[in-house]
Amino acid sequence: MLEYDSRLLESLRRVYGESLEGFLASLAQPGRRLYVRVNTLRAEPAEVVRRLASRGLEVGVDEELPEAIYFTVEGPFEVRLRGRVVVAAKEAAESVALGANLYAPGVLRCPEGATVGDEVTVVTRGGLPVAEGVLVADCYEALRRRRGVVVEVYRSLYRAPRVRELPEFTEGLVYPQSLPAMYVSRVLDPRPGEVIVDMCAAPGGKTGHVVELTRGRSYVLAFDHSRSKVARMREELSRLGHLPYVEVWVADSRYLHEDFPWIRADRVLVDPPCTALGVRPKLEDRRSYRDVEVLKSYQLQFLRAAAAVVKPGGTVVYSTCTVTIEENEEVVEEFLEEFRCFEAVDVAIPRASRGVTGVYWSRYARFHPHLHDLPGYFIAKLVRTC
Ligand SMILES: C[S@@+](CC[C@H](N)C(=O)[O-])C[C@H]1O[C@@H](n2cnc3c(N)ncnc32)[C@H](O)[C@@H]1O
Repeated sequence: MLEYDSRLLESLRRVYGESLEGFLASLAQPGRRLYVRVNTLRAEPAEVVRRLASRGLEVGVDEELPEAIYFTVEGPFEVRLRGRVVVAAKEAAESVALGANLYAPGVLRCPEGATVGDEVTVVTRGGLPVAEGVLVADCYEALRRRRGVVVEVYRSLYRAPRVRELPEFTEGLVYPQSLPAMYVSRVLDPRPGEVIVDMCAAPGGKTGHVVELTRGRSYVLAFDHSRSKVARMREELSRLGHLPYVEVWVADSRYLHEDFPWIRADRVLVDPPCTALGVRPKLEDRRSYRDVEVLKSYQLQFLRAAAAVVKPGGTVVYSTCTVTIEENEEVVEEFLEEFRCFEAVDVAIPRASRGVTGVYWSRYARFHPHLHDLPGYFIAKLVRTC
């Protein structure tokens, strides 16, 4: 269930007008394609496709990005409320809805008196059934230990391969990532020999892509303020074999220019926290317009720091996985107003929309869930001219 206050809905109507209902409905469903990025430092996409296909998995190669391969998502299927109920946290419920097992960190509430082997239904906090399965661990014990599979899922709303259980994942050949997220590093266009700064880097999806695009020959500095997320990012980068090519720092990157005054970057990626309104499937979400206002001023702070660390002639790419004009076009335009040495250059992605549908044409790229069957995303490219 989406609980958005009236001002937020008004803000979304600025973007979508009469197609607002279509946009909101598309958020509840996953896209028909589940994308993963091939780690091209370790394998050719064709080789990974061949391996997966040899085990009977149907896999396609994206029409535009050769490193992007995808599985088809099937469904929706009927999920019945039967047996006892396990309540899952938002993100866990969204993965389970796609067929993943439920792991201990995602369990919010255990059924009373349940024992291992019982049939259970996994539901969202709001009570929406997302999967049927079997309890394979003591649920209350799992709540304490926070490790391991608790419910083995056999029927879910949608079905797609469990990417994290594939040998190709364990061997670091693939990274689960949406197609628009892959376009961000492509738009950044990092080159060997350059200094690349990723200001909001964890869990490291775009950082890893930068390493691959430059074949490990650029100097990548990745920052994130969350110690735990940075620890996870290190694990991910080391699974992919990318850790030797990245310097990872725990830092509040809004103050990068003060805390790391020696940085002179050729390219800076700003992928800051946002309302994430483009992320799908979204089975439940509660947001207010106040979140948009708070995040907008936070996002501007990262861009100001980016302006201070990028070299003249350098590039700043700003991206979000949200759709409001406030967090996207307005952030960029307020930045351009304040920093006259920057100009927006065309983000040429043929399959993306230019700017906001029906509002105005612009140089920025937009992905819209109901139009592109992809997560909602925004990408702007800014060049420092003086
Ligand atoms: C949208 S996520 C980044 C996703 C990442 N770029 C990727 O592609 O995998 C935003 C990140 O910003 C980080 N963040 C939030 N505030 C920050 C701050 N003040 N300084 C540095 N990182 C921050 C969050 O911890 C979060 O990991």
